[in-house]
Amino acid sequence: MTTLKQKTVSAHGGELINRVDESAQQKEKAESLKQLTVSNWAVSDLELIGIGGFSPLQGFMGEKDYTRVVEELRLADGTVWSIPITLPVTEEEAETVQVGEEVALKGEDGITYGIIEVQEKYRYDKEKEAQNVYGTTDEAHPGVKKVFEKGNVYLGGPITLINRPSHGQFEDYYLDPAETRQLFADLGWKTVVGFQTRNPVHRAHEHIQKTALEAVDGLLLNPLVGETKSDDIPADVRMESYETILKNYYVDDRVRLVIYPAAMRYAGPREAILHATVRKNYGCTHFIVGRDHAGVGDYYGTYDAQELISKYEDELGIGIFKFEHAFYCTVCENMASAKTCPHDKENHVHLSGTKVRELLRKGERPPKEFSRPEVADVLIKGMKN
Ligand code: ADX
Repeated sequence: MTTLKQKTVSAHGGELINRVDESAQQKEKAESLKQLTVSNWAVSDLELIGIGGFSPLQGFMGEKDYTRVVEELRLADGTVWSIPITLPVTEEEAETVQVGEEVALKGEDGITYGIIEVQEKYRYDKEKEAQNVYGTTDEAHPGVKKVFEKGNVYLGGPITLINRPSHGQFEDYYLDPAETRQLFADLGWKTVVGFQTRNPVHRAHEHIQKTALEAVDGLLLNPLVGETKSDDIPADVRMESYETILKNYYVDDRVRLVIYPAAMRYAGPREAILHATVRKNYGCTHFIVGRDHAGVGDYYGTYDAQELISKYEDELGIGIFKFEHAFYCTVCENMASAKTCPHDKENHVHLSGTKVRELLRKGERPPKEFSRPEVADVLIKGMKN
């Protein structure tokens, strides 16, 4: 029973979208439609639209929304939106589809996940999308590489999610935005901070999460489990790192672990805005943006994401907790940042991702100031498999 009312966080654009219809009629109808096989990435976007994670989107973007998002970070109606959510198809596939037609969308696993009512087919400028959204046209950037690989035509139009994708071993951690909102209400959390991550948990993550938690009622740990680049740590290992740290270092009724089933874009500043928008839809009142949020390589400055999101924070309607680069200082004997620690750099425990991976591969734990030993053991085991 709900005892306390959650401080109402309206969905982005006002209404939490629900385009899920898993009825037998829809499934039967889908069988009779033209079938299009789409990527795992498109299936995860389809799911997020369907369950309202991408509210106010009702489908894959048409040209007006797409163009304004790319050029101005807004949907055609002016609502802030930072990343195009589109359905790419090849020219040959596009030719087989008529505007006005409904088409069934199949995953690479042969399962039909949704139906799109095709309202538009349009070509787009890949260079411009790459430059504007990712800030570069360098194909070494994993998000840009995807842009250049995908089909040349976008299909736009409303969707229906007729089968929710399975989340396999993470099913217990799957909740949709309506369910997380209910969960927060049931827990009596009026203020909730959301945390995005695509990496195993380390001490800096723990530090910024707990610092934020001091100011709110609850923490939603929301690791992204959709497609990531191949050298990122696999989602099952990351999830185990979270289970382990929650068991040993967090207060039970102050934190919930829920998966975020999206694909990672690595679009830095623009993706930080998308991440915050989605967490607002999940019912968070606050969101953490630390150093180089959603970044990759050297494409973005350490605080570019914080600077960009600051411009839209009021309009987004979710409070942004911005954290400086956090580290352990051996003189302070504490986690700290340049804001709180006056000591020289040589006192700060800093390890590059490469160094950490090298240690783990050798079966060695990184220093406890960098990673909790229980987490290090999970990662060492994960590296062996
Ligand atoms: S991300 O691609 O999902 O952003 P990651 O999982 O590493 O990557 O980061 C999750 C969140 O923690 C992001 O908001 C990021 O900015 C923040 N973060 C990661 N490491 C640090 C750190 N050492 N200091 C401050 N913030 C950090």
